[in-house]
Amino acid sequence: MQRTDYCAQITKQDIGRKATVTGWIQRNRDLGGLAFVNLRDSSGIMQVVFPGDDSSLAAAHTLGREDVVAVTGTITARDTVNINPDMTTGEIELRAEKLEILNRARTPPFLIEGSGEDTTEETRLRFRYVDIRRERMQSNLLLRHQVFKKIRDFFDEQGFIEIETPILTKSTPEGARDFLVPSRIEPGKFYALPQSPQLFKQLLMIGGIDRYFQLAKCFRDEDLRADRQPEFTQLDFEIAFPRGKEEIISLLEKMLDQLFRNTLNVHLPQRFPCLSYHEAIARYGSDKPDLRFGMEIEDISHLVKGCEYRIFTDALAVGGKVLGINACGCAGYSRSQIDRLQKLAVADGAGGLLWIKVGEEISSPLAKFITEERLQEIVALFGATSGDLILIVAGEGMEPVLGSLRVTIAHQEKMEDDDWHFLWVTDFPLFEHTEEGELTSSHHPFTSPRQQDIAALESRFATALADSYDLVLNGVELGSGSIRIHSRALQERIFTVLGFDKEEMEERFGFFLHALEYGTPPHGGFALGLDRCIMMMARESSIRDVIAFPKTTTGLCPLTNAPMSVTREQLNELKLQKQDETRKE
Ligand code: AMO
Repeated sequence: MQRTDYCAQITKQDIGRKATVTGWIQRNRDLGGLAFVNLRDSSGIMQVVFPGDDSSLAAAHTLGREDVVAVTGTITARDTVNINPDMTTGEIELRAEKLEILNRARTPPFLIEGSGEDTTEETRLRFRYVDIRRERMQSNLLLRHQVFKKIRDFFDEQGFIEIETPILTKSTPEGARDFLVPSRIEPGKFYALPQSPQLFKQLLMIGGIDRYFQLAKCFRDEDLRADRQPEFTQLDFEIAFPRGKEEIISLLEKMLDQLFRNTLNVHLPQRFPCLSYHEAIARYGSDKPDLRFGMEIEDISHLVKGCEYRIFTDALAVGGKVLGINACGCAGYSRSQIDRLQKLAVADGAGGLLWIKVGEEISSPLAKFITEERLQEIVALFGATSGDLILIVAGEGMEPVLGSLRVTIAHQEKMEDDDWHFLWVTDFPLFEHTEEGELTSSHHPFTSPRQQDIAALESRFATALADSYDLVLNGVELGSGSIRIHSRALQERIFTVLGFDKEEMEERFGFFLHALEYGTPPHGGFALGLDRCIMMMARESSIRDVIAFPKTTTGLCPLTNAPMSVTREQLNELKLQKQDETRKE
């Protein structure tokens, strides 16, 4: 029995003709003298009816969930009472004449219909081959395919060529830990899996490739979260002789507009708004601000100057600021709701959280310390009206504290709309300090400083800005890029500021520093996190839902049980020994 049709492609126009469909039993309603089966294939579902006069009825009675069958029959109109408006094939059914059971299935661990909330993610991942049968996963994987295809077509049309770069390679400093692969031929030495193709794409520019792109697998051993996986996919690209960052930014805007239009029928604005890093922090307390809601940070230091409130005087004395946000409509928050926000603020480093409730009257613990007029002025500065709640913190670098309160409140008050708020954030600091206090590159060390910051790089490294740009969508960092350093001398100066001595530089990056001397064109590029982009397009909240076989948040694959132990023989071949065995010796 060969398939003639896909279930959900059969329409009323086909009534009267014969068809053979194949697929999985989604549901079997056994009515004794009659059986109704919902048959599912990759296109959707159709109803198959096994009438009493048919010899296959007996076999139909035995059908269980997920059994695999082929059915031949005649396409007929359903009785009016049986019409199902929720099904695309709800007006027709296949009147079975012949049934072939191609394979039996064990009872699946969860229902295929529904969105998967009836089970744990661990079980869904362990039985991923069953999970992928669900409509939501099918449509996410189809969207992923479409995104990949459209991106490839777009970049091809724009004169880019796709080039693969090595997976077994040398460490690239993207700020995460490397995954290492031991070498058998060179015992004691290791390959690193690429955190990104950064250095190879730059080498391709040196190699005279004018426009490179790749849908590249990247590997980073870091703490996992909803938008992070140990292996993920980037749209990685690089351009030689770019017309500054503007060329890269407008190329991406064009690509995203076409992508969203052709997959979601969404039109994006021609140009996305742009904020400098410093502006983003000052106004939103984040380098990836969510612009779906306002609640911008205001500086009220000048209005509270001279007020005898200890936290304010202490903050202002050390050059700090008094800052606040207006949580519109939240004046009704209870004591315990405000306490919860205060706990969040304190956990983020604030000394405390002050509030002003705007109602018929203005109430605030601050009222004891400043005049009524001043309080009114503060309320006016926030544009607050009756029903609003102003939240205030004081100190140095308090913007991120308000930034995370802003996001928490917007989420709990459902202020996020369904729109797509893209944003460019540019001019990041070139360097930053790690939690351990070490100086590191904010992006990666191959990012060019802005022209005006190059001359005094060594003496003013703390304030130097990068010629870089991040793409943000609804508060999520989708990608980042920069104009690159293309001279060995400048690259060495950056490594020196970062604390590398000549020997370390040579050992880690010697091959690249040499390459820079062989005629390197100016170049710049970008990498877009595709899993994150598709997650947002599919309106999912985890990238695991748009990856066929993802890892759990602890980095495990419940399906294959990777990572796993290896045999002693395998370790011997690699001249490796487990630490506990070394200790025993
Ligand atoms: P960056 O490190 O910012 O830049 O990475 C670019 C984008 O990749 C995505 N991403 C991730 N997605 C899922 N899981 C992860 N663990 C993960 N880590 C990063 C994010 C991020 O914005 N070579 C530079 C780019 C360049 O300068 O051209 C780079 O990799 O969406």
